[in-house]
Amino acid sequence: MEIEPHSPKKPYEKIMQPTLAHLHLAAKYLTQGKLVSFPTETVYGLGADATNDAAVARIFAAKKRPSFNPLIVHLSSIEEAEKYVEFDITSRKLAASFWPGPFTLVLKRKPGCALSQLVSAGLDTIAVRVPEHPVIRALLQDFKRPIAAPSANISGKLSPTKPEHVARDLSDKVAMILDGPPCHNGLESTIVHVFGSGVRLLRPGSITAREIEEVSGLRVTKFEDAQNPTAPGQLKSHYAPNTPLRLNATNIGVGEALLAFGNNAPKDAKMIRNLSPQGSLLEAAANLFAMLHDLDQSGSKAIAVSPIPNKALGVAINDRLSRAAAQKED
Ligand code: TXA
Ligand code: MG
Repeated sequence: MEIEPHSPKKPYEKIMQPTLAHLHLAAKYLTQGKLVSFPTETVYGLGADATNDAAVARIFAAKKRPSFNPLIVHLSSIEEAEKYVEFDITSRKLAASFWPGPFTLVLKRKPGCALSQLVSAGLDTIAVRVPEHPVIRALLQDFKRPIAAPSANISGKLSPTKPEHVARDLSDKVAMILDGPPCHNGLESTIVHVFGSGVRLLRPGSITAREIEEVSGLRVTKFEDAQNPTAPGQLKSHYAPNTPLRLNATNIGVGEALLAFGNNAPKDAKMIRNLSPQGSLLEAAANLFAMLHDLDQSGSKAIAVSPIPNKALGVAINDRLSRAAAQKED
């Protein structure tokens, strides 16, 4: 056998057969806040515990997403979904027809919902889906909690449909890549949002507008900007605090609250939340939306925001902060 003098990095060693033992280990990794990749009937997902802020932040870091585009939460059943989101009659009908399957519903977050704010990028809605692929179903059953997962590719690259695709891009970011039967749809799920007396098609997929019209009895309209990754940030419903934001603040004005970063932030604000005293961008991303919500409740004149380094996850954090700040100017 030929021995290579410099053994190349082995991107494929994390690919595992979906045996019960491996599925159990994958669920354990998720519990520890690690990322696991798995096949679904659409594309490979890059999954994290949807209730763990830091784990969800790790998804954005791994994908190098320039903004916190909201993620889809995968659940084992409609009953499980009911714990976190509110179903209107039409959405329930659609879920009953198309779940399990390549179909995602955008629904209102329930009060006190245990899912991370980061999965919905601060929106008051959450995209949920009950997948049918046996590997993700078995993983959900073992893990017993919702799994947040975007497609398992670096942002801007093609969605993966084979474990090797994931290994090539993300092998150093995931604890395990589960092998399994093919992603037989190969196209990301159809995403819809029922509003008023219509259904908005946010992303076309293998469940067609016609099938949705047949089941719902409502007109389906295409929402043109849905494929644009900045679209969720531009939706009216996107979370913007009621209190104005003042970015890159190095001092505190009278009556201002402070969203701090790092350990030498001012200490005399009306209310202070520190995204990460140690200066970790991962921790800051995990805390961002929950802390903005808190500060928004403080009755302050404005929220001063400490400068956040504009590198790695900081780019996504600054993207969301500048959107939230800009919305108050009109
Ligand atoms: O087939 C799929 O859906 C795959 C597999 C892994 O399940 N997942 C997937 O996720 O394609 P991702 O992150 O690549 O795409 C999620 C899409 C984004 O376009 C995002 O903007 C939209 O879902 N989305 C998520 N939550 C939303 C919300 N609350 N409102 C509107 N759009 C939302
Ligand atoms: Mg994607």
